[in-house]
Amino acid sequence: MLKSGHTVSETAPGAMPRHVAIIMDGNGRWAAKRHMPRVAGHRQGVETVRVIVRAAGELGIEYLTLYGFSSENWNRPAEEVSDLMGLLRLFIRRDLAELHQNGVQVRVIGDRDHLDADIVALIGEAEALTRNNTRLKLIIAFNYGGQSEITSAMRRIAREVQAGHLDPDTITPATVSAHLDTAGIPDPDLIIRTSGEMRLSNFLLWQSAYSELVFADALWPDFTPEGLRAAVDEYRRRNRRFGATGPDDATCGEG
Ligand code: IPE
Ligand code: IPE
Ligand code: MG
Repeated sequence: MLKSGHTVSETAPGAMPRHVAIIMDGNGRWAAKRHMPRVAGHRQGVETVRVIVRAAGELGIEYLTLYGFSSENWNRPAEEVSDLMGLLRLFIRRDLAELHQNGVQVRVIGDRDHLDADIVALIGEAEALTRNNTRLKLIIAFNYGGQSEITSAMRRIAREVQAGHLDPDTITPATVSAHLDTAGIPDPDLIIRTSGEMRLSNFLLWQSAYSELVFADALWPDFTPEGLRAAVDEYRRRNRRFGATGPDDATCGEG
């Protein structure tokens, strides 16, 4: 809460988020509004990805995670699934060199087992080429679902216990984190969802425990660097407590 007498602009802004994660939603509605096929919205959405990746780098964000395809998006018509796969191919082929030149490190999280072999190869190529880059870490969640990520982690932990390499009594939340696709990546400070929907849709379920959530009305193809900046500003005005008391809270017993 703001102290009485202070307006938002007078309040000293808090720290920048290190890790911003975005649920890029609303491509289909963007196309429908224009009487265009859904794929046109997805294509325009890729243009927004380019613009927002650049803007995130300029803002000094260290980690940017983009939700590109969920494990539940396979339930869409086959043609749309194939369009989305095609757009990932196109994005990597067309943008990889430029991302690399700009010092962007690319990492893809999600289940690769059911992706076409050429896509798996492209992902591997993008990760290998950019692995030593340090400017912006771009994490693409593709064929990603939080529940299946946690389930896979549980399975691997169980195997380590079964093999006698891990004592169940020593398992902590850090053990779980280390077995997720996001091992080594700090939890997202800020999660933005576009298009006005207010849910996580299976995105970063474990990692979002203390993330700040900002919902933007803009459909993803209409989302702009100003929208990103506004979400970051909103984040910086929030008071994160992590279950503790904040600096503005009255001391117990005071009146
Ligand atoms: C987000 O846009 C892109 C993906 C989920 C792949 P949608 O395709 O979900 O667009 P809406 O929600 O139908 O408008
Ligand atoms: C979430 O959007 C997945 C991505 C943005 C990739 P959806 O459009 O699939 O989510 P629901 O179905 O509205 O929850
Ligand atoms: Mg949607």
